[in-house]
Amino acid sequence: MDNISERKNLPIGFTDSGLGGLSVLREAIRVMPAEDFIYYGDSQNAPYGTKPEEEIRNLTFAAANKLFDEGVKGLVVACNTATSAAVRPLRNTFPDMPIVGIEPAIKPAAMQSRGGRILVMATPMTVKLEKFHYLLDRYKDKAQIIPLPCEGLMEFVERGNLDGVELDAYFEEHLLPYITDDTETIVLGCTHYPFLRPHLKEFLGKRPIQIIDGSLGTALEMKRRLAQKGLLRTENRRGNVLIQNSENNPELIKLSHRLLSLPVE
Ligand code: DGL
Repeated sequence: MDNISERKNLPIGFTDSGLGGLSVLREAIRVMPAEDFIYYGDSQNAPYGTKPEEEIRNLTFAAANKLFDEGVKGLVVACNTATSAAVRPLRNTFPDMPIVGIEPAIKPAAMQSRGGRILVMATPMTVKLEKFHYLLDRYKDKAQIIPLPCEGLMEFVERGNLDGVELDAYFEEHLLPYITDDTETIVLGCTHYPFLRPHLKEFLGKRPIQIIDGSLGTALEMKRRLAQKGLLRTENRRGNVLIQNSENNPELIKLSHRLLSLPVE
């Protein structure tokens, strides 16, 4: 499609291994209210974060191709794991398509650091891949950056369990042992985790630890890219959101809408 004004009216595609990318989509809706969106969650193949790199790449390409076939003007890979495994080859394969990924917000955490500890919660695969090691290496002199592979955490969000004793038990086992007096920031390096943020905040209590994630930065990056190409919609309209999932389960679509309507903290 060559006609810019026709292309401009297409939706923006979002993909994730499941429901996590909705935390990025809710920011995108806030910063680009006139746009239409199609969200494709691959819950049938979730989690991605414990799969081999090649499999994650193939699944991400399959999801991207599905969205391209439906017709989108840009793609947000709203999954840190899929971004690490697939965003570069995706951009090489589709050079005309604006493609934006997400990475753990280590840079903003390190820039604000007073030299204390930064804990990065992410999937086992995200903390294993090259992109992450590059980030660690780049900011290692600014703070003590500690990766915490959180196997099993995204599943809480996929089930809609955003609080409760089981989640407390998870935090006690996987997070608490790493929290020291000089811990400054927790980076939520998986797009599922922002939905757990209210409960995490409660769990942390009075500790002066900030919690950050990259969802707003990612949404703004797509907005910039579309504006650059003359593809950003600015009319006075409220866009539509279509949610699809590889798992044929209406409850998951219901849960997706519930997650999307939760307020951004
Ligand atoms: N939401 C994904 C991320 O941002 C990962 C969840 C998974 O393991 O599938 O990394």
